[in-house]
Amino acid sequence: MTRLFAAVAEERDGIAAEPPVYVERRAERWELDRTFVAVTAGEVVGVIFVTVSGFGFGEIAMFVAAEARSRGIGTALVGAAIGWAKARPLHKLTLSVFPQNHRAIGLYRKLGFVEEGYHPRQIRRANGELWDLIDMGLMI
Ligand SMILES: CC(C)(COP(=O)(O)OP(=O)(O)OC[C@H]1O[C@@H](n2cnc3c(N)ncnc32)[C@H](O)[C@@H]1OP(=O)(O)O)[C@@H](O)C(=O)NCCC(=O)NCCS
Repeated sequence: MTRLFAAVAEERDGIAAEPPVYVERRAERWELDRTFVAVTAGEVVGVIFVTVSGFGFGEIAMFVAAEARSRGIGTALVGAAIGWAKARPLHKLTLSVFPQNHRAIGLYRKLGFVEEGYHPRQIRRANGELWDLIDMGLMI
């Protein structure tokens, strides 16, 4: 999972994390009971995890291996997180996404998430650029 996370961070466009990813240190922090993975031929090709707040909502974050995209894996992972949230007393799932990440926004909209907020120049990138961020949410 962490090696895939590091590979997606190398792309420097979809997720907020950028290199360097300290793989062993990051691996120690996974909370596996709130994480779902997609596996193909023994390799992890997709990950979604839910950070649960103390106030009834969960925030999701996800990534799929570049070579495994556009095959429904992201859809299945978000579906798994929604099913997991429904089985718990969570009333809502939230997420943050860069406005230029059309594939991710299309995926989330398809599954019922709606835009709830816009944060101009929220995320400082390693090159100094300040990127906007959209909040999306889904009532469970
Ligand atoms: C975003 C991401 C998780 C999607 O995973 P995926 O496995 O490719 O997603 P799926 O194949 O299940 O679904 C793709 C959906 O995205 C949408 N989509 C794809 N390309 C799109 C585009 N150019 N514009 C709008 N929507 C698009 C469609 O709704 C599509 O579903 P459909 O094929 O049923 O129409 C994946 O691209 C990824 O890991 N990207 C890099 C990391 C990242 O951006 N993570 C999310 C951070 S918020």
